[in-house]
Amino acid sequence: MKIMIYDNAEQVAEHAANIICRTINSKAKTVLGLATGRTPLKTYQKLIKSHKQGSVDFSQVSSFNLDEYLGVKPGSNNSYRFFMNENLFKHINIKLENTAVPCSDSDKVNQTCHQYEQQIKQCGGIDLQLLGLGTNGHIGFNEPSSSFASRTRVVALASSTLLDNSDLLTDQEQTIDKAISMGIATILESKEIVIIALGEAKAQAVVLAIEGALSASCPASCLQMHGNVTWLLDQEASSLLTQKHYYQLSQQLLAC
Ligand code: F6R
Repeated sequence: MKIMIYDNAEQVAEHAANIICRTINSKAKTVLGLATGRTPLKTYQKLIKSHKQGSVDFSQVSSFNLDEYLGVKPGSNNSYRFFMNENLFKHINIKLENTAVPCSDSDKVNQTCHQYEQQIKQCGGIDLQLLGLGTNGHIGFNEPSSSFASRTRVVALASSTLLDNSDLLTDQEQTIDKAISMGIATILESKEIVIIALGEAKAQAVVLAIEGALSASCPASCLQMHGNVTWLLDQEASSLLTQKHYYQLSQQLLAC
């Protein structure tokens, strides 16, 4: 794993956006895996800026989002579809029909999950998956106890996740306690993975994921098994890493 530690969230976003732009510039038909939440917001702003400056073209790119709340009304400002449209898609030249977010507004959700997996396969698989990290170590909404062999499915949300995200949901939506999420095996099939963690609240999950044992108790520890993962951390998120000095030395080598 490449563990890259930067001074602040701004620099992390700069590097994440650079990796994404580089990937698209070397393969116009890149298939992106995308995340929602607070973590990727600055990265999306940088991507929008790069697009406006003419340095990246999304016209042939397609994307798959990691997850969607179950029971959020399609038009809700809190649906992840709305989040993606507002924070990225409507500001770049990606074709909306080439963007996929799991559709939770269906009475056949299990079928939807199966189709999502098929759709990813039909596109040739995800080239670059962007991830955020839950304070409990989740990736996507694969909460602690999720199998490393899991696929896209309906999941229950952990109480810590509900608490972390409660300020993002309206009063009516506080009853939401399930989601559709890509599985861990689905995520691990991505050719490349970039995971961002920002702030002190993520420090414990970061240390368990990078330096802890492979364990379903920390779903992000599964990334240790993937051959092409980059962790992008700010100082606070990296503060509990016991081998921080070693990672920084390795980072200097990568910059040479
Ligand atoms: C979002 C997702 C989640 C978030 C994680 C961190 O699509 O899959 O795993 O990345 O909960 O959320 P934030 O970025 O809000 O701290």
